[in-house]
This record gives sequence, C-alpha cells and structure tokens, in this order.
Amino acid sequence: MNGDAPDLNQFKRIVFFTGAGLSAESGIPTYRGQGGTWQRYNYEDYACQRAFDRDPEKVWEFHEARRADAAGCEPNLAHRLIAEIAQAKPETEIVTQNIDHMHQRAGAERVIELHGSLWRVRCDRTGLIEENFDVPLKSRKTPYGDYWRPDLVWFEDPMNMETIDEAVRVIQRCDCLVSIGTSGLVYPAAQLPMLAIAGGAVAIEINPEETPISQSFAYTMRGPATEMMRLLWPEA
Ligand code: OAD
Repeated sequence: MNGDAPDLNQFKRIVFFTGAGLSAESGIPTYRGQGGTWQRYNYEDYACQRAFDRDPEKVWEFHEARRADAAGCEPNLAHRLIAEIAQAKPETEIVTQNIDHMHQRAGAERVIELHGSLWRVRCDRTGLIEENFDVPLKSRKTPYGDYWRPDLVWFEDPMNMETIDEAVRVIQRCDCLVSIGTSGLVYPAAQLPMLAIAGGAVAIEINPEETPISQSFAYTMRGPATEMMRLLWPEA
C-alpha cells in the first residue's frame, strides 16, 4: 500500500468500481491471466454476435457453463462488506463490469452493470427481455421461436448508452472511488475511474498486481479483495 488506507467513514458518496478479481475468491475465474476464461476460450467462437449468428447452440453451451459456475459459487466477504457499506452510507454506488450477480446476492440493492447480466436474456428481433435464473435454461428459444441471447455486452458490441450515462453521472459526483479487481484493459470501462479522479475524488485501487491504470490512483492496496476490504472497513 502506498500510504495508509484512508478511513472510508470520512466520505459520503463512495463508488465501488469492480471487476472479475472481486469474484475470484468466490471461485469464479477471471478473464485474463493464468487460467483466465479468455486463455481457455477464443472469444470469436463464444462471445460475439458473429459467433452467436453462426452457432447459437455452441454460444449457449459456453454461457450455460458460466451460469452454472456462478450459481455454484457464493458471494465472498468483499461483496458482503460492499453491501454493508452501501447500507450504512445510502449514497454509495456500485458500478461493476461483472455479469455474475454477486453484488446483488450479497445484499446490494442498486448495481450498475456495465457489461450486462448472465441472468438476463433478450431477443433483438422482438425486443423481449427477461430475467432468467434457470440452470439449465428450460428453453433457449422465445415463445416466437427466436433464440434468446444473453443480455451481455459481448466483444464488438456497443455499450448500452443509458447504463454508461448512469455510471458517468454517479462517478462524476463521488468523493471516493474504490476500484477492485479489474485489469484496467477494457475500454470504455477503464476510463471511468479517471472521471472520478478529474473531479477531485480520492481514488483507491485494490489489486494484487499493478495495472496500466495504477499510477492514476492516490492509494494502491496490493492484495486480495477480501483482505484489503477488511482493512478499509475494519468495523465489520
Ligand atoms: P480481468 O480478468 O481482465 O482482470 C482481473 C483482475 O483482477 C486482474 O488485474 C487481477 O490481478 C485481479 N485479481 C485477481 N485476483 C484478485 C483478488 N483476489 N482480489 C482482487 N483482485 C484480483 O477482469 P476485468 O478487468 O473485470 O467483459 O475484465 C474486464 C472485462 O473484460 C470483463 O467485464 C469481461 C472481459 O472481457 C465482458 O464479459 C463483457
């Protein structure tokens, strides 16, 4: 850590900006690095619209496995502490790149999901969209015979502008941003902490490893999310 971790109690509007590393200790693999999902699977075969148009069953098999993995894991202490802080400080916001629903399962009520959710399905032809927690899915097709697709921001997809606008709004007005478990490699998400910093917020990075955006943070806490969150919120 460079300098002591600041006391989160001094802040009113905290934003937790989270990535796959937050769920790593729950047992959900990260995307990059050793054993990462994109080391094992080529996104061009599993996580883009072109792959889905070519072979929806193959893409669904991949996503059904991701849903089963996530359903078999539990939120960890870091997810729970974030939810607890949000309860204690009602102006707290959570902006996540994660699609696993762990923040909500830990008790967080308001979560901005930049990359969508594994637990929502949609059909772009009919505009249907629904939450769906079945593992496995009862049907991969809508009542009109189209394939559902996971409501995710796949590679090459545009971001949902309403979601980005909402994230920018809360990040621009925060007085503290805590980034946890993200490689800082995926844009535009990786740009968002800079908006907080430009607005004068105190920025803290939690990650066992240095990232390309580490230099921008006032505090860097090198260690796993659960341990570092316990340092940040010792009253737990
Ligand atoms: P990555 O897999 O790119 O990065 C995970 C980060 O978590 C790395 O920097 C690790 O060092 C760190 N990490 C690992 N274990 C940790 C722990 N116990 N505590 C804290 N940090 C830990 O994941 P993201 O940055 O989230 O997009 O990836 C961004 C996006 O790329 C994802 O949302 C996903 C992916 O393609 C979609 O699914 C649309």
